Amino acid sequence: MIKLEDVCYVRLGTPDLEGAEFFANDYLGLEVEDRTKGAIYFKSDERLHTLCYFEGDPSDQAVAFVVASDTELDQAAASLERLQHRVHIGTPEEASLRKVKSFIAFDDPTGNRIELVVRPETSGRRYHGTRDAGITGFSHVGLCTTDPARDEAFWTEVCNARVSDRIGDAPLLRIDEVHHTIALFASNKAGIQHINHQVATADDVQRSFNFLRERNVPIVFGPGRHVTSTAKFLYFEGPNGMVFEYSSGVSEIADELLYRERQFPADPTGFCGWGAKPDIKEFRS
Ligand SMILES: [Fe+2]
Repeated sequence: MIKLEDVCYVRLGTPDLEGAEFFANDYLGLEVEDRTKGAIYFKSDERLHTLCYFEGDPSDQAVAFVVASDTELDQAAASLERLQHRVHIGTPEEASLRKVKSFIAFDDPTGNRIELVVRPETSGRRYHGTRDAGITGFSHVGLCTTDPARDEAFWTEVCNARVSDRIGDAPLLRIDEVHHTIALFASNKAGIQHINHQVATADDVQRSFNFLRERNVPIVFGPGRHVTSTAKFLYFEGPNGMVFEYSSGVSEIADELLYRERQFPADPTGFCGWGAKPDIKEFRS
């Protein structure tokens, strides 16, 4: 079993690096940590970076998870190859571009590019966003799935994820005590479906709602409150149609033995307890 310790970063291709930097810096509230030729690295918490925009095709996306050691990385590569996944062993140059010691890359059964990394760099410097968005860190991703049951089995049987809840057939999966770190939403294509940053309070969610709306950033869901994780949330659209989420107050599952996964309806009431309706196609049944 591949033990995912944490989600680590996302990498997003963009034909307009300057536009992506403006959004990530001025609107989303991240901090530019580093630039290399054709790539910009953003910081959102104690980690050196949690988002990298690079010059490329917007469909070129990857999400990374930490594993504990090179030994576990080798074991992960072997078990993925046994399951017929083509595994790319990251070169030292590629690892250095990701600011990790070593990594492998493969596609999940839908075709989402996944990287497993060892020893991602932590920053010696505190994150401070250019605007006061209240961000406390990069927290989870939604992934598109062309077969929710198949991909749920991949993440829970090949990897160590557990189902916290389902909205319709969409599983919200945890890899530690946080309610979910990966969520799978049905789609006809591969790709990152949304990228979540936690913010400190519900006030931050509401403040960003007004801030982004005044600047004509498309708000696609919320403000609202998830009935699953109890987090207050706001979803909005960034460059190349990528959906970003702020949320605050995600629940934690402290006792694995007592917790039972729950089934919520695949309609707006399964997503939001305040009556907000999503303008996100993967959230509509
Ligand atoms: Fe989310």
